Amino acid sequence: MKLGRNDICWCGSGKKYKKCHCHIDDRIKEFHRKGAAVPTRNLIKTENQIHGIRKSAKINIAVLDYVSENIGAGITTDEIDHWVYEQTILHNAVPAPLNYEGFPKNVCVSINDVVCHGIPSSDIQLKNGDIVNVDVSTIYQGYYSDSSRMFCIGEVSEEKKRLVDIAKESLYIGLQEVKPWGFLGDMGQAINDFVKANGYSVVREIGGHGIGLDFHEEPFVSYVSKHGKEMLMVPGMCFTIEPMINMGSADILIDEENGWTVYTADGKPSAQWEIQVLITDTGYEVLTW
Ligand code: MF3
Ligand code: CO
Repeated sequence: MKLGRNDICWCGSGKKYKKCHCHIDDRIKEFHRKGAAVPTRNLIKTENQIHGIRKSAKINIAVLDYVSENIGAGITTDEIDHWVYEQTILHNAVPAPLNYEGFPKNVCVSINDVVCHGIPSSDIQLKNGDIVNVDVSTIYQGYYSDSSRMFCIGEVSEEKKRLVDIAKESLYIGLQEVKPWGFLGDMGQAINDFVKANGYSVVREIGGHGIGLDFHEEPFVSYVSKHGKEMLMVPGMCFTIEPMINMGSADILIDEENGWTVYTADGKPSAQWEIQVLITDTGYEVLTW
């Protein structure tokens, strides 16, 4: 199975291996020899796959834009679920959460002390002062995209607004560490240090993930990781950055009845923004927001 230098590259570019992924593969092998966690080939997206993932990402953004324009006090989270379904279908795509490991709805909507995986319901109405995360994921022609945004409903306390802002800013702090031949832990630690310095905590158990050909691919992307640790970042890798930031303790609880909804253990608010990034030859491209 070993590719010769003059063979056609595995990525479908049509170029000779030596003119294409050969040097990247050699560099990965070198890191592997030194004991680093490195991506397997299926985690390195080809141009063709990136093309498909970008199209999916555009739809994901459009769906969240629609939510942004219509969300407000008095809306039930089930209405948001319907919007997401309708807008996704309108683009000939499918909402990824629906039936994912038994998830019953099209989108996750998480309010205040709900950290993530809030299940839309006609009984839950957004009210003045709420902070809410809407997490949208799309499948288009087999390609996956994922992002989430926070919304402040009406008059939100300064305390909660700051949490929402710091959660967003942490993505930019993390992005500064996103580059080929760095480690995911460089990004994880930058986010954690920043969040802690601002008096908040980062959820440990749930994090980001590789994405593209599947909803949740390797690697798990932690934001309590350490500089120089975790998987090597390589051009063509695609993953989410989605730290969950708690105002109080990092501890979480999972709803025993539905098995999905994640709450802060101390009942204090939590905020999260999620983007999807692609590692390029020189840095990164943000695919979703
Ligand atoms: N969209 C979430 C993420 O960011 C995953 C939710 S899984 C679901 O990874 F089943 F709840 F949709
Ligand atoms: Co995600």
